[in-house]
Amino acid sequence: MSWDPTGKVAVITGASSGIGEATARRLARLGMTVVAVARREDRLAALAAEHPSIVPHVADVTDTGQIDALAERVREEFGACHVLINNAGVPGGSFRGRDDLEDTLHTLDVNLSGSIRCMASFAELLSDSAPSRVVNVASVAGKLGIGPAGYASSKFGLVGFSEAMALAWRSRGITVCQLNPGFIHTEGFPKDQMRASPMGRLVGTPEDVARAIHEVLLSGATERTVPAWYRALVVLRHVATPVYRTAATRTKRSGGSRD
Ligand SMILES: NC(=O)c1ccc[n+]([C@@H]2O[C@H](COP(=O)([O-])OP(=O)(O)OC[C@H]3O[C@@H](n4cnc5c(N)ncnc54)[C@H](OP(=O)(O)O)[C@@H]3O)[C@@H](O)[C@H]2O)c1
Repeated sequence: MSWDPTGKVAVITGASSGIGEATARRLARLGMTVVAVARREDRLAALAAEHPSIVPHVADVTDTGQIDALAERVREEFGACHVLINNAGVPGGSFRGRDDLEDTLHTLDVNLSGSIRCMASFAELLSDSAPSRVVNVASVAGKLGIGPAGYASSKFGLVGFSEAMALAWRSRGITVCQLNPGFIHTEGFPKDQMRASPMGRLVGTPEDVARAIHEVLLSGATERTVPAWYRALVVLRHVATPVYRTAATRTKRSGGSRD
C-alpha cells in the first residue's frame, strides 16, 4: 500500500535555510504538519509565516537536552512523528593539524552525532507512529573521501549509521534512508565559482533535493543520490579505484580544501 503524507507529522532539522527550508515548504504543501528545527529563530519565524502547518522550534542538534525536549514537545502537541529528516549540517574546514581539531570535532558533532541524537530521542515516537520514515541527509562526500576530511568523515559515518539502522529498524516499521546530495547551491555551501564556470550546470538546487526527499517518503527507499548522475562517480570509485584515484588527485579538492 502506498504511503500517504496527508495529515502526517514531519520533523526537519536545519530548516532555517537551503535544503531543509525547501523541504519544509514542500512537505507543508503536501498537507503535512512540519516541525521546522534550527537555531536561527528569525529565519524559522519567517518560514512559519508562509504556511500555517509549519511549526518553528529553536534547538541546537549538539545539545542532547534540547533534542529530548523537542521530541517531548512533538509527542505532547502532535502525538506522533511519522517523518524525521536529519538535515542540519555544517561544511567545516580543512584539516591541517592541531589548529583545526576543534572545528573538525564540531563538524562531527553537528553532522554525525546530531543525527544520532535525534534518532535516539525520537526512536520511541517513530516506533509508536509506524509506518514511519527517517531520512538522513548525508552527502556524496560520504561515499568519496575528498575535500575537507572532517566533513567527509562525518558523512561517511552518517552513511554507515543509516545503512546499519535501515536493517535494524526495518522490523519496527521504520525505514531509514541515506540521502546523498552532490553539489547543491545553498547559503552554507555556496557554489558561486562553480556556477560561473562551464561546470555550473552540474550544481543542483535545494528544490531538487526536496523533490528527492518527497519521493523517498513515498517509496520507502533506503538510499538515494541527487542529482542522480553522481552515482556514476560512486560506482567508478568502487569498480575502477585506480582510475578514480588518478582523476581525484588532479582536482583542487584533493588538497583537503573545499575549492
Ligand atoms: N549544499 C550542498 O552542496 C550539500 C551537498 C551534500 C550534502 N549537503 C548537506 O545538506 C544539509 C543541509 O545543508 P544546506 O546545503 O541546505 O546548507 P545550509 O543552507 O547552510 O543549511 C544548514 C542548516 O543546518 C542548520 N544547522 C547548522 N548547525 C546546526 C546546529 N548545531 N543545530 C541545529 N541546526 C543547525 C542551519 O540552521 P541554523 O544556523 O539556523 O541553526 C541551517 O538551517 C547538510 O547536512 C549538508 O551537509 C549539502
